[in-house]
Amino acid sequence: MERPDLHARVAAQREQRAAQSGLRTRREVLRRDGARCDVVDAQGATRTLLNFCSNDYLGLSQHFAVVGALQDAASREGAGGLGSHLVCGHHAVHGALERELAEWLEVPRVLLLGNGYLGNLAVLQSLLGDDDLCVQDRLNHASLIDAARLAGCRLRRYPHGDVEGALRQLRSMSECAAMVATDGVFSMDGDLAPLRELAIAARVQQALLYVDDAHGVGVLGPEGRGSVAAAGLDASGVPLRLVTLGKALGSYGAAVAGDADLVGHLAETARPHVYTTALPPAQAAASLAAVKLARREHWRRERLVELVQRFRGRAEGHGLQLMPSETPIQPVLCGSNAQALAMSASLERDGYWVAAIRPPTVPEGQARLRIAFTAAHEPAQAEALADALAVARDRAADTGSSRVA
Ligand SMILES: Cc1ncc(COP(=O)(O)O)c(C=O)c1O
Repeated sequence: MERPDLHARVAAQREQRAAQSGLRTRREVLRRDGARCDVVDAQGATRTLLNFCSNDYLGLSQHFAVVGALQDAASREGAGGLGSHLVCGHHAVHGALERELAEWLEVPRVLLLGNGYLGNLAVLQSLLGDDDLCVQDRLNHASLIDAARLAGCRLRRYPHGDVEGALRQLRSMSECAAMVATDGVFSMDGDLAPLRELAIAARVQQALLYVDDAHGVGVLGPEGRGSVAAAGLDASGVPLRLVTLGKALGSYGAAVAGDADLVGHLAETARPHVYTTALPPAQAAASLAAVKLARREHWRRERLVELVQRFRGRAEGHGLQLMPSETPIQPVLCGSNAQALAMSASLERDGYWVAAIRPPTVPEGQARLRIAFTAAHEPAQAEALADALAVARDRAADTGSSRVA
């Protein structure tokens, strides 16, 4: 019997992606300056674009206090992490960041992790095994799905935002330990999970509710404590949540926050924590500075609210197909991959960078432009973007791409 050839398989898959306008490429950024950046275009020339696809929601990634903290700590402690936390990598600045996060999020304990993807792997892998159940929203982030696969548990998905669906899944397997896992803010849609109702469903079914708040922390709730606090919940209703440091906080890394015993268990057993190098202390110092700013600079969240209102008002006036989101993630549905790519290219010609998001990141037939606002944008820029989107839609329709947004 002949073994399948991996080179041939890769070539066939690439051909298939090409046929579906599904090829993916990276852009080289040469320079960042707030919401503006210089990128290399297809012809190799340098273009300055206004970036509407970054997750730096609070505009903190270039804040002098954040960058200064990173530089100071790096000059004292060096660039690397040296070892895993349980060997020699756990520095006092990691401890200070964990305590600051615990105080901010009003939870008993916090554990730092390398990034959000690893955080999700850590939680599910260390708490769930073969005989257990993980119930997830159909639109959860890929890392939660991968985490359930790694844990080896039974994964059951419910229709987006459907608490009754979650309950049905829980009831259908009432004998095993269970977790309900959901994004707090859905990363490609921008809408919120029904956390209060899910917390009740989880309590009634004696399941543990885990919220991935990658896109909520810093942005929502009092002091930016995130979607869990915005829903009026605490560690009793949501025993574990994930917060990322690489999005609204403008740094890098993640943390799992919540119940002391559960977080303590992760600290000793979660493989993506135990078997990896600690974040460099300098990166943790940058995150610590960012958390302090995020807590007190309310104007950044107020700016985001204004940007979203101004954008939606103008975009609705142009008849653009928005989604029901009040967060800084404002997708515009395009339908086909080709339409999304055509609109993204058209926006780039006008000086805007908005990435086209295509399957498998979003469901088939729901390609979209994922617009993300940051506190570094001006309100007039949000309105100008809505105008440019309408032009891009009309241009794409003129050139005959499939569906109109
Ligand atoms: C909902 C969600 N969870 C987790 C992650 C992963 O976080 P990180 O980028 O820190 O690995 C992301 C980021 O893309 C996300 O959107």
